[in-house]
Amino acid sequence: MSLEQELKEHAGLAAIHEAAAEIRQAASPDELEAARVKYLGRKSELSQLLRSIPQLSPEERPVVGRLGNRLRAALEQAIGDRRQELEGAELETRLATERVDVTLPGRPFPRGHVHLLTQTLWEIEDIFAGLGYRIAEGPEVETDYYNFTALNTPEGHPARSEHDTFFIDGRPDLLLRTQTSPVQVRVMEKQQPPVYIISPGKVYRRDSDATHTPMFHQVEGLAVDRNVTMADLKGTLEAFTKAMFGEEREIRMRPHFFPFTEPSVEIDVSCMICGGEGCRACKHIGWLEILGAGMVDPNVFGFVDYDPEEVQGFAFGMGVERIAMLKHRMTDLRMFFDNDLRFLEQF
Ligand code: PHE
Repeated sequence: MSLEQELKEHAGLAAIHEAAAEIRQAASPDELEAARVKYLGRKSELSQLLRSIPQLSPEERPVVGRLGNRLRAALEQAIGDRRQELEGAELETRLATERVDVTLPGRPFPRGHVHLLTQTLWEIEDIFAGLGYRIAEGPEVETDYYNFTALNTPEGHPARSEHDTFFIDGRPDLLLRTQTSPVQVRVMEKQQPPVYIISPGKVYRRDSDATHTPMFHQVEGLAVDRNVTMADLKGTLEAFTKAMFGEEREIRMRPHFFPFTEPSVEIDVSCMICGGEGCRACKHIGWLEILGAGMVDPNVFGFVDYDPEEVQGFAFGMGVERIAMLKHRMTDLRMFFDNDLRFLEQF
């Protein structure tokens, strides 16, 4: 038997069949790599054979070299082919398992909505915007001057003690505003009449029960112009009330006191539950109080250099929580701030 035949027989055919089978059967890139190391790695029989060539006789060298290289090429080819197969298969499984069904309807995710108070505020703002009012805002940490003094409520005035004010330690001139009325003064200081503004925002009073929270919301209104009368006040608030609570609602004015309006009134709306007949909601009166109002006291104009002989004005202030509670027949104001979604989602 020639040397070439002998090699084919031993190192060659038998081994190459075994190696080829193992490569073909490699089920993963790792198994394939293991087979590569075994048959082509530095310690493989083939590598050892090729390394031994220099020690062979001159006649043997080309034969062994040719055959060894052919074997190596054949094995490398087989490994390359199998690698491609495995990668192809892996891609196939990924394509199959990770397939996105674009025809599947999207998963709906829960969509929130604005808080009932914000809705109510927006509604109030819309109504007054329609009447030509502009929105003005002011700070929640307010000076004693704007919150009280310039609103005709000097130090020692009994009306101050009705507000349960939060003061600021070490700053006797500062407080958390107890009403949105200071914005009236801030606007009039900066702007000459005519003035038509509403001022929505948070106010603070040290009060807490079913109908009071230490923070709540008010909307202030101020109109200053020539020839403004109480009839304008009543007409404006009647238009507001009907837009907010329904065309069938009536309003009435009751005399009241506020330091910065003269005369002052409280405005009631005919009860939306019994229509004015009298029921538990309106305590059998037929009317529900919704806001405070009045003609701007000339003393307030004095603080902002408006001439009360030239211009007159009316002002009003309402609690947003109260409006929302009446409109939606709520009995406990704290529900607004408990953040119980079962309650909030109803609106
Ligand atoms: N600021 C008053 C209050 O909080 C309400 C009010 C505003 C009254 C404007 C008259 C005019 O009670």
